[in-house]
Formats: sequence, structure tokens, C-alpha cells
Amino acid sequence: MHLIFAMILASFIALSGTPNQATPPQSPAPRFVNTLMPQPAHLSTREGRLTLTPSFAAITDGYRDARLDAAIARSLDRLKTQTSISIPTSPPASSTSGALVVSVDGPGETIQSADEDESYSLEVTPLGVGLHAATVVGAMRGLETLQQLVQSDATGYFVPAVSIRDTPRFRWRGLMIDCGRHFMPVDVIRRTLDGMAAVKLNVFHWHLSEDQGFRIESRAFPRLAGLGSDGLFYTQEQAREIVAYARDRGIRVVPEFDIPGHTSAWFVGYPDLASAPGPFHIEREFGVFDPVMDPTRESTYKFLDTFIGEMAAIFPDHFMHIGGDENNGVQWKANPRIRAFMREHNLRDTAALQNHFNRRLLKILEKHGKHVIGWDEILNPDLPKDIVVQSWRGFDSLATGARNGYSSILSAGYYLNLMSTAAAHYMVDPLPQASGLNPEEQARILGGEACMWTEQTASQDIDSRIWPRAAAIAERLWSPRDVDNVDDMYRRLTVESLRLEALGLTHISQKAASLRQLARTQQIGPLHILASILAPVTFNERAHIQHPNQLTPLNQFVDALPPDPPSRHNFELLMSAYLQDSATRLQQEAELTTNFKAWIAAEPGLLHLMAGSPLLAQAEPRAQQLTVLGTMGLEAVSYLSSGLPAAAGWRAEKLAVLDETEKPQALVRFTVIKPLRDLVNAVPEAPNK
Ligand code: ACM
Repeated sequence: MHLIFAMILASFIALSGTPNQATPPQSPAPRFVNTLMPQPAHLSTREGRLTLTPSFAAITDGYRDARLDAAIARSLDRLKTQTSISIPTSPPASSTSGALVVSVDGPGETIQSADEDESYSLEVTPLGVGLHAATVVGAMRGLETLQQLVQSDATGYFVPAVSIRDTPRFRWRGLMIDCGRHFMPVDVIRRTLDGMAAVKLNVFHWHLSEDQGFRIESRAFPRLAGLGSDGLFYTQEQAREIVAYARDRGIRVVPEFDIPGHTSAWFVGYPDLASAPGPFHIEREFGVFDPVMDPTRESTYKFLDTFIGEMAAIFPDHFMHIGGDENNGVQWKANPRIRAFMREHNLRDTAALQNHFNRRLLKILEKHGKHVIGWDEILNPDLPKDIVVQSWRGFDSLATGARNGYSSILSAGYYLNLMSTAAAHYMVDPLPQASGLNPEEQARILGGEACMWTEQTASQDIDSRIWPRAAAIAERLWSPRDVDNVDDMYRRLTVESLRLEALGLTHISQKAASLRQLARTQQIGPLHILASILAPVTFNERAHIQHPNQLTPLNQFVDALPPDPPSRHNFELLMSAYLQDSATRLQQEAELTTNFKAWIAAEPGLLHLMAGSPLLAQAEPRAQQLTVLGTMGLEAVSYLSSGLPAAAGWRAEKLAVLDETEKPQALVRFTVIKPLRDLVNAVPEAPNK
């Protein structure tokens, strides 16, 4: 323990007399309820708790700077908001009355890299909190843990006594947002960064150019955003502000300029960059398109040199992402001049030509002090080993890259836009036990990134597409490999979700707000009941059924619904407890019955709401199915509780109904079909006569 910490604790005791005066002396020692997300590497619990009172203040002992002071002030402010205890947010005038002592060795890296030391230790006793870290970034990670430790009971708010030593498993823990297909305003980015910091993500990968939009101001080439963005772009000043905001939270910003494909929007203003004659337009559809940069002309490289130089001055990170994905090569193969170039340079196919382009590009990036990261298409043994490969097409490229000496990060399995469950993402490990990689190769797996592609997501619903599922991915990337209990993850995710909402994210509140708008009334009780057991169809299903493009309004019923509603997992738990015939079966039976009755009772109100709302009308069959499901549930529970068998054929009939009900309709599907199937299957049937 630092000397000053001990002194402060001693004086704290002297000043406050008996600590925890608000706690009745006979109150039982509080049980530590672990709601940390991500789980720390090492945690041990102790007796007792630190009661939060207005005398809780923070002081620094050791290195301090404006970034650290601001992080501490934000942290205290959040505690104050959470507890309504008037905790002072500026350091106390006298340095002897602190209950949080932040002791930091040094500032950390001037430009944060994947090598930044993010470790910290946190000691909570009934007398105070000691936070120690080698760097300011480590201290920020510890402050987030402290936030998550705060609990409450009838006696007030407190921090349970614990000892934590924590360090991340992976060094690169990112979130990518595609701001090309749908532009995300600065306040969305800011609150996303707040959420990222809360769950210890450390790379914001900013996808800034796409066929559907070029999203950052270039002064050298004003027609990029000028003609390629519909007026929706970040000014350089805004981009710098985001970089600073992220750095204040220990988050790197890696910008992506996706080239040579996915570049239609560049060519609207600068058609000479393309491999075919223009004119070009901002692409409104989604998919893979032909427009691609011309890699055979010196003017292309001259342009990129100037552009990258300009961007390098805005984005200080050591890495710049060059995209490199999904170039279909069509324009290259169709252009006689480009074909001749390929023959001349012995480039046997368009992949080889793209590799030629990448090698030129690498030199330009190097000139501007940048390392390259790209999607896994760029992987080629010709490229120098200091590039980083982002695996999105599968796990194989991650391992292949590592075997060939390339550092890589995993995104396959972390695509938030696919509308998978948090559990599905959680079980994807960049470095599973049986990776088949030797220790040197394993060390090249830097981590992973969650990816939020925005074909089907706009600014009003992006929070609910990212959160809280990204927190499960954040845990996978931070915590030890053996932290993998899905039930426990969901238990903590529910709490983390609420904490993220307190930070200003709208992933919970957006649902009710959208439902009110759809229903055109505040009286949406029945709609809540239906919506709570529905989730969007998968990304691919929606693409096939609806064919949304950039101009499709994303304000339908499906857009209001979170991809993995808490009710899905909770209902599964309830049903499995019930079917296991536990001692509490009667309680579960009552709970199930209440649910089923509520589903049935909701139908008339739903039909009424739907009749008045063209946007809800498409979901009308779902209202009727709610009654069917509720009735089926009641019947099954009644057979099981009476012990009487159903008539022969009952199960087959109900299972067929469930199969039908499970199909996508109104772009949504029920989340309760599997447990209902288990329920139906558990019902005994009379033998066939
Ligand atoms: C990608 O999803 N095209 C990287």
C-alpha cells in the first residue's frame, strides 16, 4: 500500500469516527454480488463494504495530468448521479480527506498503441479505495470497474470490499461502425465511445467511406464529401474532437478508407480515379459493386498520397485501415489498358493486381508514418509483416495469417448487424484452446472487433443494435478464456445494460419510444407484451424479404425491436427450470401461466392499435399467433400439472403450429418457440387407439 494511502485511510477513520454510520451495526455482512462486465482477471472478496457518503472524495497520489483528472471527475460525477449523494467531483482542498486514492506511475503512451499498459489493481476496504495503475489508461479501466462495483440495499449505496488485479487478455478490442451506408451524427459516436470505455473496449474503427457515402471533409479534395455524401459528413474539426474524446477515454481511433473497391462515392467528384468512364453516382443499393480505383495510373497514387497525408494529420493512430474487401475485379477485367498492364507486370489475376496496388499503397502509408490494417482479402505473403489482417470471412484467415507471420484480429463471429444473440457472439473466441497455433503464432492474434454494418441500421436504432451485445464481445476480448458461462454472462449483461443506459445510450428507451410512434399513442401496454417476445429476423432474411436500400426508412416495427431481448434468455431459463421438475415448480408454473394469459389477453388491444397504424398493420398475424401460443402453453401446463395425457396426435399438431409460427413474418420472429417446443414435447400423450 502506498504510504499516502495508509495515511489518508488513518485520517479518514479519525475524521469520521465509526465508519459506515448509516449502516445499522447489526446489518449482516453484505454478500458480494458480482455484476462486473468484463470479468477481471483476478478477484477476491473480503469482509465488509465501503459505504458511500458525501465525504467520499478522490485524490491522486503520484503522476497526474489533465486526462487523469478529467477521468476521475467524470467517474465521481457518475457516482453522484447514480446515488444522489453529493460527492464532490473536484479534488478536495486538503489532501487528507480522500476515500479514493488514485495512484498512477506515468502518463502512458503519447499515441496509444496496442502495447499500452492497461492493467490496474483495485483494493476496496471499508475505509477506502486504492486504485493503482502503471498508466492513465490503466487507471481509467480501474475507474470503470469501480463504477460497476457500486451496489445498493435498504441501507444505501456501497462498494463491497474486494481486491482486484486486472489486465486484458487481448490488446486490440474494437468496435467498427460503418458510417458510410448510414451516417451517424457526432453525438451517436460520442455516446458509443462512452459505452466502449465502460466495457473496456479500446479501438474505435471508424469506417468513413463506402459506395453509399464519403463521410469526412477533405480540403485537398473538396468534391469527395462535397458530392459524395448528401451533405452528411464529419468536418475535420469534428473528427479531431472525436479523436480527442476517444483518447480521453483510453480509446484509439483507427479510420478506414475502404479502397480500391467500395469506392463509388469517391468517383462522383473524382471520376478519373476509377477504372471505367463515369459518370458515377452515390450508390443507393447495398452489395458489391463494380466501381474500383484504377491501380495502373500514377495519378491515382498521387491523389492517395495527398489524401492520406491530409488524413494522417487528423488521425494520430499508428494504424490506418485501407479496407481492401470485396473488389469483384469486373472493371479491371473489362478495361483493355488495365489488362495490358497486368500482362506487362506478370499479374496473373485481379487479386495479384490488387496486391500490386496494396504494395504501392503501403509505401504511401509508410511515408506518412502509418501501419496498414486491412480486411482479410489483403492477406498475401508478398506483403511486409507489419500489416494487421482483420479476419471477417472466417476463422481460417486468422490462423493462416498468424502462421505466415501476420498479426491479426478477429471479426468473423462478431458482426452485430447479423442480429445474432449475445450468446452466439460470446462463444466465439479469437484464440480457442484448440487453436493449433504455437505460442509465437498465438501471440500474433491481437484480439478482435465487433462490427456494426449499417445497411439495416440508422442513427435512431444503432444503440440497440450495438448494445448490450457488444459488452458480451468486450468480455470475450478482455477476460480470461475460461470466463464462458452463458447464464452468468446474461445475468451480468442485464445489469450492464442498465448501466450503459445511465451513460446516455438509448438502446433500452428507444424501443418504447419507437413503439409509441408506431402506435401513435402512449397507451401501448398490449404492444409491449407482443414486442417483448419478438426479435428482428436475421440480416440476410431481411435483405431477401425487404431488399432495403439506403433510402428505405428504418422506422418499422422490426426496427423498434432489440436483436436479443432479455426475455428470450429469461423465458428459456424459466421453461427449463419448470421442465426439470424442480422444487420450485409450482412457482414456475404460476409464472408461465401468467405469461400465457397475458399473451392471450393482449390480442384485442393489439388488433385495435394495429387497425389505427399502417406501420403496425403488417404485424397483425403476430397478434393472433400470440393467442395461439398462449393457449397452447396453458393447455400444456394443464396436462403436465394434472398428470393427464393429451389425446394422441396433440403434440404433432402443436409442433406443426410452432413450425409455422417460427417462420419470419412482418420481418420479425418469436423468441419463445424453442422453449415452447420443449414444453409441448414434455406433455404425455394417450396411446394411439
Ligand atoms: C466486409 O464485411 N465486407 C468486410
